[in-house]
Amino acid sequence: MTPYEIISRKRDRKELSREQIEFLINGVTDQSIPDYQLAAWLMAVYLNGMNPSEKHFLTQAMLHSGEVIDLKEIPGIKVDKHSTGGVGDKVSIILAPIVAAAGVSVPMISGRGLGHTGGTLDKLQSIPGFKVDYNTAEYKKIIAETGVCLIGQTKDIAPADKKIYALRDVTATVQSIPLISASIMSKKLAEGIDALVLDVKTGHGAFMQEYAQAIELAKSLIEIGEAAGKQTVAYITNMNQPLGNTVGNWLEVKECIDCLQGNGPDDLMEVTHQLCGAMIWLGKKAESIEQGVEISQKMISSGKAWDKFLQIVERQQGSVEMVKNPQNYPRAKHQLEIKSEKDGYLSAINSLEIGLASVGLGAGRLKWEDNIDPRAGIILNRKQGAVIKKNDTIMTLYSDNMKALNETSVSLLEKSIQITHQKPDPEPLIITYLDKNNLS
Ligand code: URA
Repeated sequence: MTPYEIISRKRDRKELSREQIEFLINGVTDQSIPDYQLAAWLMAVYLNGMNPSEKHFLTQAMLHSGEVIDLKEIPGIKVDKHSTGGVGDKVSIILAPIVAAAGVSVPMISGRGLGHTGGTLDKLQSIPGFKVDYNTAEYKKIIAETGVCLIGQTKDIAPADKKIYALRDVTATVQSIPLISASIMSKKLAEGIDALVLDVKTGHGAFMQEYAQAIELAKSLIEIGEAAGKQTVAYITNMNQPLGNTVGNWLEVKECIDCLQGNGPDDLMEVTHQLCGAMIWLGKKAESIEQGVEISQKMISSGKAWDKFLQIVERQQGSVEMVKNPQNYPRAKHQLEIKSEKDGYLSAINSLEIGLASVGLGAGRLKWEDNIDPRAGIILNRKQGAVIKKNDTIMTLYSDNMKALNETSVSLLEKSIQITHQKPDPEPLIITYLDKNNLS
């Protein structure tokens, strides 16, 4: 077997065997395959795709390029959620304590933000002291004790993905459904999960902007999860406007605190409860997703999810004092309100533009090396569909950088906000549910 043979088979649209795919991925991991051959193969996959068995073999090979965590010693069904990423998507921080409070363990390995989308790890680390790097033994111990552990990806998890992703990034092969699916699922399957709920975002601020692409990705992810023996379900949800009322790391954590105390905004809570409901059902603590949603709502109203959150923060060495007293968190040096220039309806808030603006204010990064400011970000004072009067505050921007604040406010007014005379049609937030019965 040679890399040349495997590249030419994919170029000629012939199916690759498990052995051929394993040979290639082993060559990535032990660095015996040069980048130029791997890049050629990635482009062949980008152009010609992969069938379900090839995607399964690719995911398995990438998964086994590193450590696969075994959580069998922890009783019960372990369930995680994965979101394809969006703007203001802080659901994981509310969902993990809700689901754990309902008795389902949540092993959660999250990522950092890059470009216009934020990352759960950056948000969690805006809590002073919150630790996200634990070794496998500690990860298991924390899950056994609290029912949740929120950590970052270690170098031992799917190392082949790291190498392949870096090459995809510079060879215009990121936007390939088989490659995206294998990349996401190899990391998720390494966590030790038994079941998975996917939140595939669609709309302006989503990785998959088009609905049809989001459906295709969701089906591909479900196919791979089920082939690995893990029950996998997916929701397609709307990312045309940011989720909730805040964008930026500490601002989002503060919003999560409000949610866990029963004061969350409707859109954010709707998505959170739906995903929690599915997780609680997959974890066999509810007989249906609907019953799971009711349990999720009870975890908030009873205060159990808030208590669980405090337990998580304490166990992961974060400041319980600060999350109990968020008003004491240091503020950004400057704030600036964006006001409406006319009366009408707020008919659009473009989440892609908001995400990029928050990066400009210091809340995100364009390159992995960039530093982020946990205090920077945007509060959305009004959301899509609101009736607006001239001079109403639509958004408030926070940053230490006055120049960025002024420039951002001008570009946001021009590009991200639309005020119309006509009332906009409401858009559904949770668009589609998919599971293994919807794969054809
Ligand atoms: N997220 C991932 O983890 N991998 C991809 O390829 C795309 C998004």
